[in-house]
Amino acid sequence: MTQRRTTVLAIANQKGGVAKTTTVASIGAALAELGHRVLLVDLDPQACLTFSLGIDPEDLELSVHHVLTKGLAPTEAIITTEDGVDLLPATIELARAEADLLTRTGREHVLRTVVEDLAEQGEDYDWILLDCPPSLGVLTVAALTAAEGVLIPLQCETLSHRGVGQLLDTVHDVRRFTNRGLAVWGVLPTLFDGRTNHARAVLDNISETYELEVIEPPIPKTIKFAEAPAAGRSILATSRSSKGARAYREVAANLSARAAS
Ligand SMILES: Nc1ncnc2c1ncn2[C@@H]1O[C@H](COP(=O)(O)OP(=O)(O)OP(=O)(O)O)[C@@H](O)[C@H]1O
Ligand SMILES: [Mg+2]
Repeated sequence: MTQRRTTVLAIANQKGGVAKTTTVASIGAALAELGHRVLLVDLDPQACLTFSLGIDPEDLELSVHHVLTKGLAPTEAIITTEDGVDLLPATIELARAEADLLTRTGREHVLRTVVEDLAEQGEDYDWILLDCPPSLGVLTVAALTAAEGVLIPLQCETLSHRGVGQLLDTVHDVRRFTNRGLAVWGVLPTLFDGRTNHARAVLDNISETYELEVIEPPIPKTIKFAEAPAAGRSILATSRSSKGARAYREVAANLSARAAS
């Protein structure tokens, strides 16, 4: 095997409910199945990723908030989950971290520092996936600053393009001021209803307008996803051979090929 290198990806879209968290949990589990070492970081004070991996944030004494604002070593807060991935969990306290960080020098770099600290401590993750909150605030900017790539989950509906320009403006600013190397890896169609031509047309239109690559395959809309978080496992475990699980496995394999190239 070639020398290990960590690929840090931010999963971002300020629009709520487009399957950012589901994508992070599912791609994370799929990469772990492929034998990769994966860390997922919950950057949403709602802590949905943490919940969906079977952890009750109320039971946690240490979380990402302590790492970002109190100088706690990330390894102190990271937990191993049943899905075969490690998690840097969030609690509602993260909402306060966002406010605290606003007045701090170097706030955009807090996550990049966490990634560097992990490398220094010999935590050789192949992937670090950052689950961004549905906003373009401090935490999302910090995620984009730490990442080599950003993946934009997109629900292919008529008005879903409205936020994309704004997100790309933020990416542009981050490239200019804090992270020159940030690349947009592409949009990932989620909650995709393949029975309609409409979804495909919307997707084509968005990728053309913004010159964005479309990551294949689209993730089909399926009821199985609603059941997974309650089980505390990703759909890859709860519904192993469903078309949603298969789609995420294929996406993970494609991302993996891209990281290796
Ligand atoms: N492919 C899918 N088919 C059906 N339901 C899905 C699919 N993907 C996600 N969902 C459901 O859609 C809802 C929103 O998903 P999720 O929480 O992943 O979105 P999000 O972008 O992280 O939301 P937020 O912006 O609030 O963080 C959840 O109830 C989830 O179970
Ligand atoms: Mg989410």
